[in-house]
This record gives sequence, C-alpha cells and structure tokens, in this order.
Amino acid sequence: MTIRINGSDHALPDDPRTTLLDFLRYDLSLNGTKKGCDHGQCGACTVLVNGMRINSCLSLAAMHDGDSVTTIEGIGTPDAPSKLQAAFVEHDGYQCGYCTPGQICSATAMLEEIELGWPSDASEDLTGDMSVSANEIRERMSGNLCRCGAYPNILSAIQDVAGGDAA
Ligand code: FES
Ligand code: FES
Repeated sequence: MTIRINGSDHALPDDPRTTLLDFLRYDLSLNGTKKGCDHGQCGACTVLVNGMRINSCLSLAAMHDGDSVTTIEGIGTPDAPSKLQAAFVEHDGYQCGYCTPGQICSATAMLEEIELGWPSDASEDLTGDMSVSANEIRERMSGNLCRCGAYPNILSAIQDVAGGDAA
C-alpha cells in the first residue's frame, strides 16, 4: 500500500490508526501541515488529496492507498512560491503563521472549486459562473480559522490571485 506525497511514493504506516496528519508530521517530518485542534474544527491541517481539500486530522492514512497528496511543501518553495504564497507575503496575510499553510492549501483548492463552477452557501446562482466576491471567499474559507485575526489581509491576498470583486 503506497501513498504519493508531493510527487514521491511512500509506504503507508503499519498502524492503521495513524491519521494522515500524524503520518505527514511525525513519520515523514512534513511539518508544514499544522495540528491545531485535531478535531476538524480549525483547518490548520488542510492538505489536498487528489486535488481536493480535506482536514488531514480527520482522515486515516490507511484510507489513502494510491492517493496523491499535496502539502504546503508541494505547493511551492521559498525560491519558487505559488501565486497564493507570494500574495500572502505581499499582503501580509498572517501574523504568527500557524494557520497559514492550511489557509493556502485551502485557498488553492477553493479557487479550483470556483473555476469548476461548484456553488457555495453564499452563491446567488447555483448553475451559472461563480463570482469571486469577498462574500464567496469568506464563505468558502470559513473552515480555516485564524486565531490572530489576519482575515482582512488573507482575503486581500486571495482576491489578488482570484481577481475578484473588492466588495
Ligand atoms: Fe485538523 Fe484542526 S487540526 S481541523
Ligand atoms: Fe496566527 Fe492565523 S496567522 S493563527
């Protein structure tokens, strides 16, 4: 049983009780993914599985045989950051930075969801083109908490990349 993480294959852990979050952090030393609540409440542990965002604290590693996982380390590097990573720096979208990897992983998948036309609870039209209004972004990012309250700058960073409306 193998799992692909940031382009490299790894054997799944022997202990089937290991969460994907603990597997990433403790077995593979991919410490960019953060443990906040460990209960699916904060979004600090968000990673992409086959391109979709999940809370890795709520998922067992053993459930991901054959899956492709992208963590913040696979999104970009200090020398080659993704657009969102660069925008978070430019817009000062963090204070302590603990929630930031989850915010960026979540926003990466969220923009893709908008691109695919998936509606959110804030969407006025469930079938047409999705807007990237501030309300849409706030709703879609509501699973990612920031204890420092950097929300205005996080929103600015995401809007900068999404090209959304300022309102
Ligand atoms: Fe997973 Fe908080 S650590 S949601
Ligand atoms: Fe500190 Fe978000 S920047 S929790």
